[in-house]
Amino acid sequence: MSFKETFLLPKKAARIIILQRIELASPTIKKIRKIFGRFIFSSIITKYFLNSKIIAKDYFKAMSNEYLTIKNYFFENDQYFLSIGSGIGGLEVIINNHLKNKSFYFIERNFISKKVKYGWSKNNLEAYNTFSLQRRFLEMNHMGKDQFNLIDYDNDKFPIIKFDVITSLFSLDYHYDFNIYINYLKKVSTNKTRIIFDTIRAEYFHTIFRNVKVISNNDNTVHKSKRIICSDFI
Ligand SMILES: C[S@@+](CC[C@H](N)C(=O)[O-])C[C@H]1O[C@@H](n2cnc3c(N)ncnc32)[C@H](O)[C@@H]1O
Repeated sequence: MSFKETFLLPKKAARIIILQRIELASPTIKKIRKIFGRFIFSSIITKYFLNSKIIAKDYFKAMSNEYLTIKNYFFENDQYFLSIGSGIGGLEVIINNHLKNKSFYFIERNFISKKVKYGWSKNNLEAYNTFSLQRRFLEMNHMGKDQFNLIDYDNDKFPIIKFDVITSLFSLDYHYDFNIYINYLKKVSTNKTRIIFDTIRAEYFHTIFRNVKVISNNDNTVHKSKRIICSDFI
């Protein structure tokens, strides 16, 4: 099977992709957001004024670049992948295009905040995802129905499996505290599980894991975060 340099998108998916990845909005759309404010932006502009073909292509490119930052940390016999705050799942589609027949688990939220703010929040009330769209997106982009599980952070029981790789790009410890998940992550990790996420406090994680390594610098993001790979809880 060959893959085109773009994703296939369900009709309404462009909106949540832009909310999840604001950098993919065109300069005009960003200007409109500044003028009309967050509420109008999230509820109207993103619904009616997006070019989904361009967004599909740009999202594909962005996720392919993200894949390059982490692919060297996958092992051949890795089977179970957990994604926390995956968004619609473009990165996992790219992983699935490269490594065949893996099992993907997604812990996400199934609602869109009224006013999306992109800061750090202690309360962790923000979300911008829709499971019906995510499910369609994954299937349209060749992820088999039996290959993935969508788990609702607010309503479902979390899966208890020893994961090989856990990823959370611009979500865990970027928008909300890592410690919300720490007990769960301890349960579902072995000392070989690699946990990859973006944070502005890389040093702090030396108190939590035996191995911590910075694998990339996100200098182009507002928060100037670092992407780290951690393993072996202390
Ligand atoms: C900035 S987006 C990043 C999406 C994706 N990882 C990416 O890099 O494109 C943050 C995502 O985290 C999700 N989220 C927020 N709180 C969460 C939580 N407690 N657990 C899992 N996901 C969460 C949001 O719904 C949103 O899709």
